[in-house]
Amino acid sequence: MQLSPLQSRLAASVAASCFLIVLYLTLFSFPNFAVATEIPIPKQETTPVLFVDDLSDDDDLSSIGVAQDATYEPEFSLGLDRSIIGRAPAGVTALVNNVEMPMNVVAGTTQLFMFPLSEGQVSGREAAEERSSLELRGEHNTSQERDLVGEAIVEREDDTDGQSLAKRQKTAARTIYISANTCEQPQPVNGTQTTMDPPQLTLFVSTSPSNQNPGPLANSAQQVFVEFTEGAVMYNLSTNSDVYLGIHAPNVSKVFSAGTYNFRVAASTDDWFHSYNVETDADLIWVDSDSQGALLITHNLTNNADPSVEEQIMKSQPYVMFAQNQNDRSINGMMYSYCGLQNYAQIAATKNGQHTSMVQTGMTKRGPGNLPKQQFYFSGLNASANYVGILAKNGNSSGSGNGVVGGGGHVFRATNFSTKSDHGNCAIVLNLTFCDQVAYSVPSNPSYGNATQLAQFYDSYASSMYANFELVLAQIACEAPSTQRYSLVRNCTDCAAAYKNWLCSVTIPRCEDFSNDATYLQPRALSQPFPNNDTLSTDILGQFPNTTAYNSSRNPLIDSTIQPGPYKEVLPCEDLCYTLVQSCPASMGFGCPKPGQAVFNVSYGRRSAQADADGEITCNYPGSAHLFSGTIRTGGTVPWGSLSVAGLLGLLLL
Ligand SMILES: *[C@@H]1O[C@H](CO)[C@@H](O)[C@H](O)[C@H]1NC(C)=O
Ligand SMILES: *[C@@H]1O[C@H](CO)[C@@H](O)[C@H](O)[C@H]1NC(C)=O
Ligand SMILES: *[C@@H]1O[C@H](CO)[C@@H](O)[C@H](O)[C@H]1NC(C)=O
Ligand SMILES: *[C@@H]1O[C@H](CO)[C@@H](O)[C@H](O)[C@H]1NC(C)=O
Ligand SMILES: *[C@@H]1O[C@H](CO)[C@@H](O)[C@H](O)[C@H]1NC(C)=O
Ligand SMILES: *[C@@H]1O[C@H](CO)[C@@H](O)[C@H](O)[C@H]1NC(C)=O
Ligand SMILES: *[C@@H]1O[C@H](CO)[C@@H](O)[C@H](O)[C@H]1NC(C)=O
Ligand SMILES: *[C@@H]1O[C@H](CO)[C@@H](O)[C@H](O)[C@H]1NC(C)=O
Ligand SMILES: *[C@@H]1O[C@H](CO)[C@@H](O)[C@H](O)[C@H]1NC(C)=O
Ligand SMILES: *[C@@H]1O[C@H](CO)[C@@H](O)[C@H](O)[C@H]1NC(C)=O
Ligand SMILES: *[C@@H]1O[C@H](CO)[C@@H](O)[C@H](O)[C@H]1NC(C)=O
Ligand SMILES: *[C@@H]1O[C@H](CO)[C@@H](O)[C@H](O)[C@H]1NC(C)=O
Repeated sequence: MQLSPLQSRLAASVAASCFLIVLYLTLFSFPNFAVATEIPIPKQETTPVLFVDDLSDDDDLSSIGVAQDATYEPEFSLGLDRSIIGRAPAGVTALVNNVEMPMNVVAGTTQLFMFPLSEGQVSGREAAEERSSLELRGEHNTSQERDLVGEAIVEREDDTDGQSLAKRQKTAARTIYISANTCEQPQPVNGTQTTMDPPQLTLFVSTSPSNQNPGPLANSAQQVFVEFTEGAVMYNLSTNSDVYLGIHAPNVSKVFSAGTYNFRVAASTDDWFHSYNVETDADLIWVDSDSQGALLITHNLTNNADPSVEEQIMKSQPYVMFAQNQNDRSINGMMYSYCGLQNYAQIAATKNGQHTSMVQTGMTKRGPGNLPKQQFYFSGLNASANYVGILAKNGNSSGSGNGVVGGGGHVFRATNFSTKSDHGNCAIVLNLTFCDQVAYSVPSNPSYGNATQLAQFYDSYASSMYANFELVLAQIACEAPSTQRYSLVRNCTDCAAAYKNWLCSVTIPRCEDFSNDATYLQPRALSQPFPNNDTLSTDILGQFPNTTAYNSSRNPLIDSTIQPGPYKEVLPCEDLCYTLVQSCPASMGFGCPKPGQAVFNVSYGRRSAQADADGEITCNYPGSAHLFSGTIRTGGTVPWGSLSVAGLLGLLLL
């Protein structure tokens, strides 16, 4: 449930009233604090983790609603050492380790929080350990003692009657991770007129007891401040005293509506509850797109080839993804905020996300190395549009939400991608049975059929060609003793794999828009009409050679069956051909055209380090994608025969 600013304010005041009433009752219904601490507390309540009962397997971060808010303070005051509440000044909200606090802040004001550290505000397990060790010693040891529990040095005063648990603890300095996400921000009154983003919130942090109200008006020598970046802030410090936080909303210009922000703040002794990382390479890889869809994958989720590890990962879907048309400014200023993206992103591939019908996600092992990856397949996008895709993780690998280390979500660096023009003659195919590495745009025509039928056309053609190859391969002495084999370094398995990679790349052309001007693209089927019956003007046709390589597809069956019309082909990489020649017996007669020959230029492409780094795909190979960096494999240097593609396909007819 999402709090509107008004609801949040109401909730805050209800919570505050309840808190006062309960505090009043608890203070005066017991003779003194000491007695209060005698009340036996069930074990799970001793952990300072709130909402435990509200935590479900459901990952929905926004499930913290008004009701929980209203009961928050009372639960807190009963469940924890009272002195923590006692020391939190009025108007200051106490934070609990690894529990996020949703809050509104009105423009020009500051919300105050404190993270009590000196009173043993530690993680649940440590608190329990500490308590049990204290109780144990309380029974048997009465003199002053020191004990080291975890990182905390606990010092206890002599208490002969065993009733007073008033204790003084001195904690060793530890790292405190403070993080916050902006979930709602003021929106432009007139979106077409206002091009600037609303100003960001600012986090103020103080560890000085004489500055318990950090903010723009406090002594700047006693605090640090960090402005949010794209709706998120991460700050860590090392301290052994209470941490005071202020989250300040700047004054907002009148071009923005009601100046209220909604944010979530959390402090942790373990790790950042909310986090983002924009330093590393994009974790999301744009594979390809067509006029209304796009395919993106993650990096390898493991390098461990252990089948059981792989199987475990294949069952998980660790990531969520958000996508946004770059013309739509609604996530601007909140691109690093998990809850901001959840609230405003146009398309969200999350469990409870909006527009989930527009995206399918699943696991795949496609691509070099055949290691597990998560893929996202979008449909229903606009043609010729630019999008930004943002990968995110909801919580840590074992769970999400309050009480989980890093449970607030992690946002990765964004990846840009774009869709193709609406000629509609390039369409993404995936899930091919034989050419299982193929997942890219292929020449198509909407009137031919849906993506499944299109995939089937290409796949069955390739697999029928492969059947011919297998007949030829059957005549090679594959199982002979090594001295009688065709090669000492390659065997029939290598030959078959090389042939399959080559065959799938050659028979299933990777399609680009005709309007794409990249020089490495080969124009095809220029003399034919587009699916909407438009034809290229003679002016345009005159710019290209009037030859078969330009006027038809590589495989004539594509022109006669699919009839895609003019498109451009990302040529297969030359190394696919070289590997084939190297891996198969010479008697099969495979050969590759030489670079520089006219037939080479219309048949094969070459990898380019520069273009790869720019995310361009200069040639097609199994698992190729817009990588924007990475290592580049170069072709071999072996001399090649001169058999053309036609010759190679001719061989299949043997
Ligand atoms: C009592 O405290 C001493 C250290 O002061 C410790 O060595 C001893 O184990 C404690 N006894 C019990 C029963 O915890
Ligand atoms: C928003 O601003 C644009 C450009 O200044 C103007 O044409 C349009 O009428 C405005 N819309 C509203 C609802 O005020
Ligand atoms: C903050 O975290 C970073 C990275 O986790 C670490 O390198 C740095 O030492 C930390 N700073 C403090 C003050 O703990
Ligand atoms: C913000 O607005 C308030 C009231 O309008 C004003 O008192 C304050 O000085 C302003 N703050 C800044 C930083 O401009
Ligand atoms: C996955 O791992 C393989 C083998 O290590 C590597 O070749 C490939 O580039 C990796 N793919 C991605 C997307 O990182
Ligand atoms: C498609 O374009 C329309 C009109 O510009 C826009 O309203 C809509 O949000 C866009 N949809 C997507 C998914 O980009
Ligand atoms: C995830 O959170 C749980 C619960 O806080 C914690 O026990 C676990 O260590 C965390 N896992 C990672 C990888 O941080
Ligand atoms: C591809 O196959 C996977 C797993 O079999 C499935 O989840 C997914 O929906 C399929 N995608 C398409 C576009 O057919
Ligand atoms: C594609 O069309 C075929 C035949 O009309 C139909 O059986 C199949 O369900 C369709 N597939 C999808 C994904 O729409
Ligand atoms: C072919 O060689 C590879 C190593 O290059 C080896 O893993 C494979 O088992 C061999 N296959 C056969 C059928 O000998
Ligand atoms: C294109 O022309 C053919 C034959 O002239 C006709 O059957 C078809 O409907 C036309 N297609 C479109 C999209 O106009
Ligand atoms: C291309 O050549 C063919 C015959 O070779 C000719 O009929 C056709 O008109 C030519 N097309 C153009 C655009 O010159």
